[in-house]
Amino acid sequence: MAKSSLKVEENVAGNFYVDSTCIDCGACRRFAPASFGETEDYSFVYSQPQTPEDERAAQRSLLACPTASIGTHQKTDLNQARQSFPLELVPGVYINGFNARDSFGADSYFIRHEEGNWLVDSPRFTRHLVKAFEAMGGVDTIFLTHQDDVADARDYARHFGCQRIIHRLDAGAQQDAEIIVDGEAETHIGPGTIIFTPGHTRGHQVLLWEDRYLFSGDHFSWLPKLNHFGSFRGVCWFSWDIQIESVEKLKHFENVNWVFPGHGHRGQVGDKPFPEVIDEAVAWMKTVR
Ligand SMILES: [Fe+2]
Repeated sequence: MAKSSLKVEENVAGNFYVDSTCIDCGACRRFAPASFGETEDYSFVYSQPQTPEDERAAQRSLLACPTASIGTHQKTDLNQARQSFPLELVPGVYINGFNARDSFGADSYFIRHEEGNWLVDSPRFTRHLVKAFEAMGGVDTIFLTHQDDVADARDYARHFGCQRIIHRLDAGAQQDAEIIVDGEAETHIGPGTIIFTPGHTRGHQVLLWEDRYLFSGDHFSWLPKLNHFGSFRGVCWFSWDIQIESVEKLKHFENVNWVFPGHGHRGQVGDKPFPEVIDEAVAWMKTVR
């Protein structure tokens, strides 16, 4: 529960506030960019919601916040916002909300498909999401991009009796995973292509879904301040040079039109062919040391 006595001074006056327990994961800024901004160290409310859409988005941020650092001064009914999760982003792809502290607030996704539903990384294990996933046919596979973002995957795997996939080099975070990918080759499972993309961590992998949706974990995301895609140098834990090579590998997947990361901003590829998007990202990454 957020505490108004701890609210940060940058918040503008009004119902919503962020308190000093914020870990600056950025989830609120992605769910409600019209209301939440950032300082060097944490998020704050820079504009109170002005429209019903903004209000709903701010409520979603409150529910998604992994540290319960967002509060409201007035009693606020969050039920409709709760019911809106998982929130459909493109047909068949949903963002779960309820980001987990254990994954430093990474976004996670649910993919609904007739051959079996997938989770990409894990949200908090909540009663609401369990029921929502059950209503959509359950979960068959949990794809774990890397060791940082496993969160409550084990609880979901137990509940749904589903398989978890992780790379051997990151499997220390989920040693009992049912499928441990080894080596560097692509793995094909149903509509999913799993691509080995070391750099952020040793065993990072991304999931390409039906050739067009790239679930990129902490490997690659939209960079709004730079207005192009790329990776985060400051949170590259293993090797920046190898991460650049791993981004370059994605150039062959010409039909990618959406990128759904764990941390960082989701982004639509737009009119530019994806190989050009990769060239632009790699050229920039090579200038960053
Ligand atoms: Fe990470």
